[in-house]
Amino acid sequence: MRNGTCWLDDQGHTIQAHGGMITRFHEKWYWYGENKDADNCKVNGRLLSRVDVRGVSCYSSDDLHLWHHEGIVLPAEPTDPSSPLYPGKVCERPKVIYCEHTGKYVMWFHSDAADYTLANAACATSDTPVGPFTLQKTVTPNRRDCRDMTLFQDEGTGMAYLIHSGDWNKTLYLSQLDETFTDFTGVCFEAFPGQEREAPAFFKRQGLYYSITSGCTGWAPNSALYAVGQHLSNGLKLIDNPCEGEGCHETFGGQSTYIFEDQQRYYLMLDHWKPMDLRNSGYSILPIAFEKERMIIRWTDEF
Ligand code: GAL
Repeated sequence: MRNGTCWLDDQGHTIQAHGGMITRFHEKWYWYGENKDADNCKVNGRLLSRVDVRGVSCYSSDDLHLWHHEGIVLPAEPTDPSSPLYPGKVCERPKVIYCEHTGKYVMWFHSDAADYTLANAACATSDTPVGPFTLQKTVTPNRRDCRDMTLFQDEGTGMAYLIHSGDWNKTLYLSQLDETFTDFTGVCFEAFPGQEREAPAFFKRQGLYYSITSGCTGWAPNSALYAVGQHLSNGLKLIDNPCEGEGCHETFGGQSTYIFEDQQRYYLMLDHWKPMDLRNSGYSILPIAFEKERMIIRWTDEF
């Protein structure tokens, strides 16, 4: 898989799982993401940097390389203009975690109006990792807006968080989920107040919490920053750009979307957005290295 390009599934079709995540359920890998398999929208002949909502795709794999399309597990709802899955809206950055308490797979995604002024989070659940997912609700978590977001489950405590850019992207919020993972406890931590970080990806390693985020420049790449902390509640401390080498100031042309772990190694997933041809946006997966305290990410041509 050549980093920075579109990848193909086991049928030779481009993988449509943008703004996504790779995770493991029962020894199998699953990749969820935005299906953007449509032409960019046009208004009066002018091309826009959006595609209509098609839904959330799921792919499965045994080896992280050969991916099988399990289908659109949360499809668009073209007949219902009030649905967050109506094609003219926005459904981005879907993430899925398993809830032991209810036995459900719980998906959250960024749900918005086409002009991004709604800034909601939406939740859907399924009995299996490959769907079908049923939409449960659309909310503003703890009355805060939600744009770029991710899910993070703290294995130590079992608590899960919807982590979302709020206050018009000024501050990142960690909204704690209740035991069903479909609602909030009301506990909410702030991270990076006033720092305007988005595209959050979180992980925990050797007892420390880490995040990688991007700046806010829309589809255009910018410098990533990593942060570290001993407690989620205190807010993590922003340290530096983890990327090194050519292209490091633009995250190698990509934007963070998720970090997954395999055999105690951590991998950063990036989207390489093509704003005027979104369906052909590329992917890369880069290993995260640690040298003493410092996090380092270097470009590799292949994953
Ligand atoms: C980016 C964000 C993407 C998408 C895009 C729209 O900042 O990370 O997920 O929302 O803006 O312009």
